[in-house]
Amino acid sequence: MKTIAVFASGSGSNFEALAAACADGRIDARIGLMVCDRPGAYVNERAARYGVPTFTFRPKDYASKADYEREIVRRLREAGVELICLAGYMRIVSDVLLEAYPERIINIHPSLLPAFKGAHAIADAFAYGVKVFGVTIHYVNGELDGGRILAQRAFPYEGDDVGELEAMVHAVEHPLYVETVARLVAGR
Ligand code: GAR
Repeated sequence: MKTIAVFASGSGSNFEALAAACADGRIDARIGLMVCDRPGAYVNERAARYGVPTFTFRPKDYASKADYEREIVRRLREAGVELICLAGYMRIVSDVLLEAYPERIINIHPSLLPAFKGAHAIADAFAYGVKVFGVTIHYVNGELDGGRILAQRAFPYEGDDVGELEAMVHAVEHPLYVETVARLVAGR
């Protein structure tokens, strides 16, 4: 069975979708480490509930991004992690992680990339007046929301409630991330 890591900065609903799927066998893997850059983030409570080991740090406690990423890599190796799933981890990953895990880091993004990159994709697409929204899962490279696309799912929304839209995006994200990670760990 493979060991994966999930990185998150916020609520962690995608973390929980992956943790639940690992627990009930839909994904043939275990989460060996949850990495979080915000000590107060709700994802930490979710990880505790699932008994997933965590490494939660404050970036400002380190001299540089390379320094904290070296610490992350050390802990990932200790945990035997083979695949990294970014799930609302709001930082750009540097060469330290990319070189340690080449083609082994994926991300979920709440838009149909390459449209609406960045931290406010849902609000940006909504403000633009988009009528077809979606979710992308992609390999991570050194560019913001760049990297080869692994999976994408679109849906129409013509309403005027950004909260409702956000809930719809999450409802698409969770099963798509589970299916995609299940496929990757199975070598398909
Ligand atoms: C998700 O919608 C994810 O796609 C997005 O952050 C949210 C995290 O939610 N990621 C990005 O915007 C990355 N650029 P969660 O903490 O409930 O999983």
